[in-house]
Amino acid sequence: MQELQKSLKPYHEGFLSFSRLPEEGCGREEILREMEKLKSVEEARWKEGRVSGAVYHGDSGHVDFLNQVYALNSQSNPLHADVWPSTTKFEAEIVAMTAHMLGADADPGHGVCGTVTSGGTESILVAMKTYRDWARETKGITAPEMVAPATAHAAFDKAAQYFGIKIIRIPVGPDFRADVVAARKAITANTIVLIGSAPPFPHGLVDPIEELSELAREHGLGFHTDGCLGGFLLPWAEKLGYPVPRFDFRLPGVTSISADTHKYGYAAKGTSVVLYRNAELRHFQYYTTTDWPGGLYFSPTLAGSRPGGLSAACWAALVTLGESGYLRAAGAILETAATIKQGLREIPELQLIGDPLFVIAFMSETLDIFQVMEAMTRKGWGLNGLHFPPAVHICVTLRHTQPGLGQRLIADLKEAVAYVKGRPDAPAGVGPVYGMASVVELRGMVSELLRMYMDVLYQV
Ligand SMILES: Cc1ncc(COP(=O)(O)O)c(C=O)c1O
Repeated sequence: MQELQKSLKPYHEGFLSFSRLPEEGCGREEILREMEKLKSVEEARWKEGRVSGAVYHGDSGHVDFLNQVYALNSQSNPLHADVWPSTTKFEAEIVAMTAHMLGADADPGHGVCGTVTSGGTESILVAMKTYRDWARETKGITAPEMVAPATAHAAFDKAAQYFGIKIIRIPVGPDFRADVVAARKAITANTIVLIGSAPPFPHGLVDPIEELSELAREHGLGFHTDGCLGGFLLPWAEKLGYPVPRFDFRLPGVTSISADTHKYGYAAKGTSVVLYRNAELRHFQYYTTTDWPGGLYFSPTLAGSRPGGLSAACWAALVTLGESGYLRAAGAILETAATIKQGLREIPELQLIGDPLFVIAFMSETLDIFQVMEAMTRKGWGLNGLHFPPAVHICVTLRHTQPGLGQRLIADLKEAVAYVKGRPDAPAGVGPVYGMASVVELRGMVSELLRMYMDVLYQV
């Protein structure tokens, strides 16, 4: 436990630390010095492109520009649209630009609309709440169920728990993409929505959205494409000629899409977009109350007050990049991903999972893949561990497009593999925890461990 405390909380000695308000406020200079110190410790790893996902753009010029835009709007709050109409203007335009990018205009009389949220999870939460309320009102469903592939993001479980929806997880096929036959079998009279991801977080392989959304249409169900990860990259990959299966509003069965501006939209952290095929659906997302002494109250998403500065910075990111900027960025990312995939194919101990575009997952039939991951961690890399089956992935971003980085990753992987091969009995740090989670009876214990972990994180 002490070890865990130390690794999670490295800032006790030599850093400012408070468990109550200082009697007298600290000087601004001192606080800024502290911030610079912390930044200098943490920045190098992500800036040099050692971390999977996490920072999707990160060039200093871009970050400075977004910070400038944020600073100009730091006091604004879209809850007070009368005081800051600029913020709702930014949000309406973010939604319109995202809808256009995701095929809304394929239907000239389209009613595609949406809202800006705080991130992928919130986009998914509000979309699932929308389907719950829509199905209750229009179909009288009071015990709602959603059907989601095993690989769909954990945010769908969270939505199920928060909103009292039963989640039916269906398996993926041998190609790691959602099994459409299983989806058909899982539909009941209580099903409200089917889900597919473009792509899912674990293996980056786009689900058969066309078949799944047609299945939903056949049954009069909602269909949500989780484009949180790929929504701002796949449209440009398609334009560049990469094989991208359709996943957006060009498919008539798709009734909503989540797409994260704070990932490949290159905005600052804290924004995402949720889109609906029509305004009727979006109305079920809104909250209104007329009997509160505080006055008439309404808000479109989970939060009340929201950071208008982040919406301004998001708008600025979209319009400063423009289509040409997104195309260039996608081209660089996909080329780097191709280099990494090729390198992986040349390491016999590792097996690439499918042929993904930019989230590259691999496993090993002969080695403990978590030991390989640990060896990479010791070399400074932050890769993501996956399970069911045990695997590791890297989500390629603009940070990884720096010259030679793809090759560096492969060279380090080769060394890590050789190291693990040479020490078959070396203990794996995270391996046993993943192993425990794969035993159904032990999952409660792992959940308890994760709760303890959060307790440590959020205590002084
Ligand atoms: C496919 C997918 N959906 C949803 C999310 C959740 O996004 P967030 O972490 O912004 O809440 C992620 C995050 O990586 C994702 O990859």
